[in-house]
Amino acid sequence: MLSFAPGPIGVFDSGYGGLTILREMMLRLPGYDYLYLGDNARAPYGSRSFGIVYEFTLQAVRALFSRGCHLVILACNTASAKALRSIQQHDLPELDPQRRVLGVIRPTVEALGDVSRSRHVGVLATPGTIRSRSYEMETEKLYSGMHVSGQACPMWVPLVENGEAHSDGADYFVRKYLNEIMERDPAIDTLILGCTHYPLLLPKIRRYVPEGTNVLAQGELVAASLEDYLRRHPEIDSKCTRGGSVNYLTTESTQNFDALASIFMQTPVRSTRITL
Ligand code: DGL
Repeated sequence: MLSFAPGPIGVFDSGYGGLTILREMMLRLPGYDYLYLGDNARAPYGSRSFGIVYEFTLQAVRALFSRGCHLVILACNTASAKALRSIQQHDLPELDPQRRVLGVIRPTVEALGDVSRSRHVGVLATPGTIRSRSYEMETEKLYSGMHVSGQACPMWVPLVENGEAHSDGADYFVRKYLNEIMERDPAIDTLILGCTHYPLLLPKIRRYVPEGTNVLAQGELVAASLEDYLRRHPEIDSKCTRGGSVNYLTTESTQNFDALASIFMQTPVRSTRITL
């Protein structure tokens, strides 16, 4: 039985990547309470099948609902691409039609109109997100005729999850995928980091993109969109508590999570381990 009492905003990712979204939300909306869940024990999700990503994401949403969240942000493109629609349409009505689950793809695509001049954009994402063609479909709805090229970057999440984002070895794979997409469509003037882990590779990505290319990270876009959503939906806003706290849940060892998450959040993190 889910509680009606207000609770924190839930933020979910397969692992550490969603922290790049959480950080921006906390900067923009510092008054709220947040509950972060990383399914680190089963990350990465990027190469997993549609059915498995859906199953894991639904388990995570249930876990956050049962801990008091009325609003959950899937701070994960792979989960947004493969599970969001099914959860919104099939599961929410049964779980609790008053609760909300939102993703990160739509707010990212909305930003393209102001940024791309050539109307040729590239999406760097996990194989699952690229295969879903979610970015192409959302872009076509909002900016018909805009040209979208997708590039799967299967090695980038493992580099981040293993704390290798700043290592010399990471350069090879950063350059490889950037070269592949820019060779395919040299008219690209905007690259979307379509995976919430990728901002952690941003210093290297910036080093290897052609000069003048816009690189869009999602954190600020999603945080601005959340602020707008809460303003337009007072019935959901009133279900979000405001104590300025943040708590972390992980499905892996808390020791590993705390060490890496503290680096990403630039503040000490103490998580709690849960099973889904
Ligand atoms: N951070 C996630 C995303 O935005 C998923 C990465 C993964 O687990 O492969 O797609």
